[in-house]
Amino acid sequence: MVEKIKKIQQDFEKDIQAATSPESLEEMRIKYIGRKSELAAISKMFPTLSSEEKAQAGQILNVCKKTIEQELDKKKTEIQKTSTSKDAIDVTIDAIKKNIGSLHPLTKTMDAIVEIFMSLGYRVAEGNEIETEFANFEGLNIPLDHPARDDFDTFYVDKDRLLRSHTSTVQIRVMEKQAPPIQMIMPGRVYRPDAVDATHSFMFHQVEGLMVNKNIRFSDLKGTLNIFAKQMFGDDVKLRFRPSFFPFTEPSAEIDVSCIMCKGKGCRVCSQTGWLEILGAGMVNPKVFKNVDYDPDKWTGFAFGMGVERIAMLKYGITDIRLFFENNKQFLSQF
Ligand code: PHE
Repeated sequence: MVEKIKKIQQDFEKDIQAATSPESLEEMRIKYIGRKSELAAISKMFPTLSSEEKAQAGQILNVCKKTIEQELDKKKTEIQKTSTSKDAIDVTIDAIKKNIGSLHPLTKTMDAIVEIFMSLGYRVAEGNEIETEFANFEGLNIPLDHPARDDFDTFYVDKDRLLRSHTSTVQIRVMEKQAPPIQMIMPGRVYRPDAVDATHSFMFHQVEGLMVNKNIRFSDLKGTLNIFAKQMFGDDVKLRFRPSFFPFTEPSAEIDVSCIMCKGKGCRVCSQTGWLEILGAGMVNPKVFKNVDYDPDKWTGFAFGMGVERIAMLKYGITDIRLFFENNKQFLSQF
């Protein structure tokens, strides 16, 4: 009988190696320790044994049963582990990224410009995009029949109202509303009926600046724009003031920065000149002060206006202005 039990255990050890699924384990449980198993049959024979045989065979039988039970349990947890790991969460895989979007490169550029001036004590004002001829032209000393008006060619909404062609309108609006001193930065959209190409758009953005106080001089304008350019483009950037004409400033200048691509050596971006125009500026024309009832003998000031697209194109190395307005996610997600 002892031999028989040992043989059963040996068979079991061989069988269990081959078991790979919970179902095959269950079959083995029934076969080896179930009610109709050989071991069960052996137990049933016990009453016919002598007490000595009973004691000997009984012990081996119990050990055999226990071993089989334990090994079945052990194999079961092993199989469970390997099968669940297939469906388990792999914590090393990247999470699915949420598409939360980002600020438009023009918004970023405009924010950066405004922030620099706010750190210099400027406050922000925004005017309307639909304006009067007075705010866009006459208040700024641009007579309606003057050729200078052609530079600010305009979309009309109706007989007297138009889409502003520059943010200089906000100078007028701010000065109409409040007394000097003034220290304002004025970002916004402007419109001109230009044919669209790589450098022109019928809608673009400007940031206007206005400083009015006592004894403001051209050197204050130079110092201010120098600080701005260095903070915007880096410490080694140089400024160049070229004499120019705007009806609302006198004297006027167009201001270039040394090319930020080639550092002034001359390249394709700066047409080999080493310089890039970024803004127009000048001392506020006393005629403009008169138009808004400021005393030109008491107050002086400077104003400047810059194109945001131009600055963003330089800063990010963008060569076509149309990219800003096409809502191409692949382009926009780079910023
Ligand atoms: N408004 C001018 C333009 O659009 C820029 C400018 C602003 C020039 C303020 C001088 C002073 O070109």
